[in-house]
Amino acid sequence: MSVAPEPLPGARLLFSLDPGQAYLNHGTVGVTPVPVQRAHQRLRDEVEANPQRFFTRGLHDRVAHARRHLAAFVGADPDGSALVPNTTFGIATVLRTLGLGTGDEVVTTDHGYGSVDYAVDATGAHRRVVPLGLTAGDDEIVAGIRAAVEPSRTRLVIVDLITSSTARLLPAARIAQALRETGVPLLVDGAHAPGSLALDVDALGADFFVGNLHKWAFAPRSTGLLVVAPGWRTRIRPVVVSWGQPDGFPGSVEEAGTLDYTAWLAAPTGLFTLRSLGVERVRVHNAALVRYGQQVVGDALGISELPDPGGPLPMRLAPLPGFGDVAAAVHLRERIADELRCVVAVSSWNGRLLLRLAAQVYNRPEEYDRLAEGLPHLLR
Ligand SMILES: Cc1ncc(COP(=O)(O)O)c(C=O)c1O
Repeated sequence: MSVAPEPLPGARLLFSLDPGQAYLNHGTVGVTPVPVQRAHQRLRDEVEANPQRFFTRGLHDRVAHARRHLAAFVGADPDGSALVPNTTFGIATVLRTLGLGTGDEVVTTDHGYGSVDYAVDATGAHRRVVPLGLTAGDDEIVAGIRAAVEPSRTRLVIVDLITSSTARLLPAARIAQALRETGVPLLVDGAHAPGSLALDVDALGADFFVGNLHKWAFAPRSTGLLVVAPGWRTRIRPVVVSWGQPDGFPGSVEEAGTLDYTAWLAAPTGLFTLRSLGVERVRVHNAALVRYGQQVVGDALGISELPDPGGPLPMRLAPLPGFGDVAAAVHLRERIADELRCVVAVSSWNGRLLLRLAAQVYNRPEEYDRLAEGLPHLLR
């Protein structure tokens, strides 16, 4: 039986969540701590005090400064990293860079993110999906992906580091190693990775990595990082071409006209907040709390084998009985929110309904207990 961890003193006060609900879904869009909200607002105030000055004096250097902090945090070379609004944008940049089209093939897995599948399909390339199942081991995953790659037609492999619907850590570094002899580039979708895992992005050995800082690294929303291996940097083709074009990567990707760049500038305050709590302490707390949550919910539903995430992740799954489509998943999620006052993620994955729990420092064991108590009745 897993034991719930002691709460981190004072941590809950750092957030402005509605106390009337149990917010058990930090993963989907993140929750921004109050000090980060304040830092972000101060930057917006600075913009409005003199917008021209903000945009024309020193913005470039301030963005580069923020980028250096964020890249260092995830173990990436700041000169090979560009700030982007989110993972979706970073992935679009990679797909455009590769100039994919009809006749090309992209290898993905059945644990991939839905909108990334749409983005690949929109290039005209064929998507070869490797089925991994819910409980595949690392050896099986690496072998399955390698077997699907055919250097004459595969132009790209996309693998999630932490999968969204299935809350699973995939062996990205081993996949990168297995692909090296093929020459086929690897894009690691690390949307959930910055902050939730001890990351050394450069050591993964991928050609491209994209991650969000606004999920587990406490940055304001619209803060993503695209990391590019040295051999690709001069070949990057920005999705939006603007004044940064003559500078080359990363400025050519970061400068996309008159945008709100304040989230990026406030993002280092997110790292400061995380560090002041203790990065490793937060990870250990979250992994232990979500394990407790998975156990109580699993016990309440009589699930005998709960999927293991493959590492100390802050998200875990409870596979629900029966099958359902996306509409059924959304309906159930909304009923859980309205009737149990618990915010969770529910997805339809290969026809199965998967409930995903997350844990963050603002959560308490009683919140998972409440979900566990109400869920069997609601599902009946
Ligand atoms: C695996 C994965 N990829 C991509 C995304 C898209 O992220 P964003 O909406 O921030 O672009 C998500 C979002 O949760 C995700 O989980």
